[in-house]
Amino acid sequence: MPKDTLTIVDNRTGKQYEVPIELGTINAMDLRQIKTAADDFGLMTYDPAFTNTASCKSRITYIDGDQGVLRYRGYPIEELAEKSTYLETAYLIVKGELPNRAHMEMWTHNTKIHTMVHENIKKFIDGFRYDAHPMGMLVGTVGALSTFYPDAKNIFDLESRRVQTRRLIGKVPTIAAFAYRHSRGLPYVYPDNELSYTGNFLAMLFKMTELVYKPNPVLERALDVLFILHADHEQNCSTNAVRSVGSSQVDPYSAVAAASAALYGPLHGGANEAVIRMLLEIGSVANVPAAIQKFKAGEGRLMGFGHRVYKNYDPRAKIIKRIADEVFVVTGKNPLIDIAVELERIALQDDYFVKRKLYPNVDFYSGIIYQAMGFPMTMFPVLFAIPRTAGWIAQWAEMVRDPEQKIARPRQIYIGEGVRRWVPIEQRPEPSSREDAVTQQI
Ligand code: SDX
Repeated sequence: MPKDTLTIVDNRTGKQYEVPIELGTINAMDLRQIKTAADDFGLMTYDPAFTNTASCKSRITYIDGDQGVLRYRGYPIEELAEKSTYLETAYLIVKGELPNRAHMEMWTHNTKIHTMVHENIKKFIDGFRYDAHPMGMLVGTVGALSTFYPDAKNIFDLESRRVQTRRLIGKVPTIAAFAYRHSRGLPYVYPDNELSYTGNFLAMLFKMTELVYKPNPVLERALDVLFILHADHEQNCSTNAVRSVGSSQVDPYSAVAAASAALYGPLHGGANEAVIRMLLEIGSVANVPAAIQKFKAGEGRLMGFGHRVYKNYDPRAKIIKRIADEVFVVTGKNPLIDIAVELERIALQDDYFVKRKLYPNVDFYSGIIYQAMGFPMTMFPVLFAIPRTAGWIAQWAEMVRDPEQKIARPRQIYIGEGVRRWVPIEQRPEPSSREDAVTQQI
């Protein structure tokens, strides 16, 4: 009968070790027994960027990258996108089950009563430059929420975690909309709790002199589905940030601000903004073949393509591509979609991309829709952060409750200098190529 163990022979000593295999993994600490001498530290694993390392056990999101499968709490993303709403999906991600009617009414009420922000938040937003990137404003302001809610430090108190969850899901859209209005030089629009979660967000963004803003139902539903698609995605870069920062037992606002900062990066949530800039630079369908050659030569990346986990078509990208057609009926077609479709067509036939299993990811088409809906490019990562807040807070709370988790503190392989003695400055070598080498290090 095969055993769920790994037998390791250390050829340096001839010793043999047997380590248990659990859930497709071995525990890295089981390698520390493998030593060449009693005072040897023992073996570690080396895995920059955690390409093959499980950092936690989670019940929230399941991805099968080879099959292009994505499920929140077991529910396929395709079904949620077709039948659910973002607020219901946020409940599912946070609570673990779909709500019954009473729970949904309570959840809706409990998030809506937290859409208002402290009036001082307006002073924060006012303090940013006119051309401040909305994502920078979001990162700073979400972090500042921790100063308004000191009770959030009680992270082991269930009711405190629940209140902060409602506050974050309720307030992040308001802060995002305030950041947008500031960048446009427009007055802030307070929440309208008569509207849906996503309808209220649109109102806070686009309401002008009309007494009551009426969102276009097609655009409201399209954005709500986009929010569903972006709500969580297991241990991505920003979720790793919320867990790692949260593991120091800091409050959830500070942890979510750290996650927002990670999402800001062009390789992560900033990719949909980078896709539009790439498409604008390509300029026309005729220029696509030359652009593909550039990417293959390593001159820049085909932004919106590739994924650490998906080695097949990102299921979210398929749904987003369908949403584009519905949005364009209302907004008019965004001509950039023709360039994107041609890029996809050629890339999916080109060995460079096929060999590397590079497919469109969630960011490839989302920016084209956002642009058609009238959002400036700088708002695109913000439109990612809003729905992902539910995922971040759910992952953070799962980490807080996990008895196997403690402060995240990776090891390293030291490859620096051996011990050296300090010498007075007059005894140090004259500037040389060494000087250049040192000054280059930052
Ligand atoms: C998101 O993790 C998540 O779940 C993230 C996310 C979520 O919901 O949270 O799904 C959201 O961040 C989607 C990804 C958005 N980013 C982009 O679209 C930026 C462009 N894509 C990449 O830079 C890249 O594909 C990553 C960052 C997404 C993944 O990078 P990996 O897994 O570290 O892959 P890699 O950099 O090691 O690339 C492997 C090879 C390399 O070629 P070789 O060195 O083997 O010759 O593929 C090449 C890369 O050069 N490659 C690309 C490419 N992506 C990878 N070549 C051209 N264009 C690309 N987009």
